Amino acid sequence: MKTMYRSHTCGELSIAQINNEVTLSGWVQGIRDKGFMIYIDLRDRYGITQLYFDEENTPKNIMAQAQKLGREFVIQVRGIVVERASKNPNIPTGEVEVLVKELTVLNKALVPPFTIEDKTDGGEDIRMKYRYLDIRRNPVKNSLMFRHKVAMEVRKFLSDEGFIEVETPYLIKSTPEGARDFVVPSRMNEGQFYALPQSPQTFKQLLMVGGMDKYFQIVKCFRDEDLRADRQPEFTQIDCEMAFVEQEDILNVFENLTKYLLKEIKGVSIDSFPRMTYDDAMRKYGNDKPDIRFGMEFGELNSFAQHKDFGIFNESELVVGIAVPNGAEYTRKEIDALVDWVRRPQVGAKGMVYVRYNQDGTFKSSVDKFYDQDDLAKWATATNAKPGDLICVLSGETNKTRTQLSALRMELATRLGLRNPEVFAPLWVVDFPLLELDEETGHYHAMHHPFTSPKPGQLQLLDTDPGAVKANAYDLVLNGNEIGGGSIRIHDKDIQATMFKHLGFTLEEAKAQFGFLMDAFQYGAPPHGGLAFGLDRLVAILGGQETIRDFIAFPKNNSGRDVMIDAPAFIDDNQLKELHLKLDLKA
Ligand code: AMO
Repeated sequence: MKTMYRSHTCGELSIAQINNEVTLSGWVQGIRDKGFMIYIDLRDRYGITQLYFDEENTPKNIMAQAQKLGREFVIQVRGIVVERASKNPNIPTGEVEVLVKELTVLNKALVPPFTIEDKTDGGEDIRMKYRYLDIRRNPVKNSLMFRHKVAMEVRKFLSDEGFIEVETPYLIKSTPEGARDFVVPSRMNEGQFYALPQSPQTFKQLLMVGGMDKYFQIVKCFRDEDLRADRQPEFTQIDCEMAFVEQEDILNVFENLTKYLLKEIKGVSIDSFPRMTYDDAMRKYGNDKPDIRFGMEFGELNSFAQHKDFGIFNESELVVGIAVPNGAEYTRKEIDALVDWVRRPQVGAKGMVYVRYNQDGTFKSSVDKFYDQDDLAKWATATNAKPGDLICVLSGETNKTRTQLSALRMELATRLGLRNPEVFAPLWVVDFPLLELDEETGHYHAMHHPFTSPKPGQLQLLDTDPGAVKANAYDLVLNGNEIGGGSIRIHDKDIQATMFKHLGFTLEEAKAQFGFLMDAFQYGAPPHGGLAFGLDRLVAILGGQETIRDFIAFPKNNSGRDVMIDAPAFIDDNQLKELHLKLDLKA
């Protein structure tokens, strides 16, 4: 688009415009001043164009002005497109340059605190403080543009499928999704607080009661929880809900959405997504979001490893191993380092038994005293080990041991380069438990959320064996990351009330917090269900990365701070007073 400031962008000019007079605006990326001639790289979102000034063709005053420019000055130039003597095949505009006739400085700039180049000298902290400068760099700019493209394709697909985007409020009441709420004090209602939505869960269900039938929203959600590479306190969901559907219908629609995105964005075609039950995922991978791009499946060894003389295994609830491809060649030192790795507090294993499966078919283990070659051959079969592999074995309490071995599996796969970001392996994990026991409190809480319905026919089990009840809930996993999750909902008031009872709510508490939903269920709630994808995660993984921060324009750091605007911050006494709040920081 032509504007007063420019006739073309900095990414547009080519041989086709030779001899044309053009006007460009942008930032000074770099200056090469050779005295009698000056080259400037001018940058905008679209690319870089080389500007050229020389004593022969450029007016003296312009030449002098150019000599005074600094990096990141904002300038406008008018000039003639000429063919370059030495061309740069690495950039689209590399065949031409602009011989400058007029130069206007639109704004000066301080020297930036880090170089605005693809490979910058700026560390994470400084780049976050000056995020607006970081965004000028290609890697960040491209990630934001990539995110835009994914979001556009999502909107297009869902809209074509008949979904309506409806906005739901941000100032609401707590929606339990397993995290703490961010709360907002109400000035007009003394002592009362709004909660920011952890998700629009209850509203989308109310939209189904309202007959919207197919809803979606690309929406911010807020969760006060520990932050990690794939978690931000505010993040974006592609949130969806459908009426008159069963699990199969929802999986179909969102499998198609994911296939569409993989095709449109990555050019990858996948026929159909495998499905795995939660129980199988835990047994085979020790994880409810397994990365299935590579093998290294767990082999349970209890029946081969117990009842010999090795006390540690005999006392363990679970003995389980994985085969590490070509690991038999690891040196003793390398294996010791692995043992140290699993013993770090973050992993928490007590130790690790290992077996080298030699190329000649013999075995050499750290427990040769207790197990003969026939025993170890059975371990190899159970872990699907091949000659040349290393079998790593952990033992202990079932859930903990699975989690530890899963951490080792992922670490080794990363080290072995088995987690290729350009290979995509989606997977539905289904049949999640409805409830999860909180080891600390001894109480059950909803594994997905309290609005999730049990599998048909399992309601009675709630009274006798709550931990065994399976939910009508599912997750979409992509390359070892939970991309989305959802469920078929309870739409019956009495069943919802029973659920709340099992989750430890008294009738009064349930009414106070969720009365509006149970009321709505009495006015003709249709059967319904849905799911939400994490947009930040989806975009990051499609972009070949796992850190979502890189795909968020203004992310928070690991302490939940925005270091650029310096938030959160104290507020002044008057504001506190207006909000009827008193701070007692000593307490
Ligand atoms: P759930 O809690 O599983 O489901 O969230 C859906 C998806 O959102 C992403 N996600 C996050 N991404 C970044 N930072 C976070 N802190 C974060 N927390 C979650 C994940 C996750 O799979 N209301 C239900 C959905 C439903 O039942 O329809 C819900 O919010 O990718």
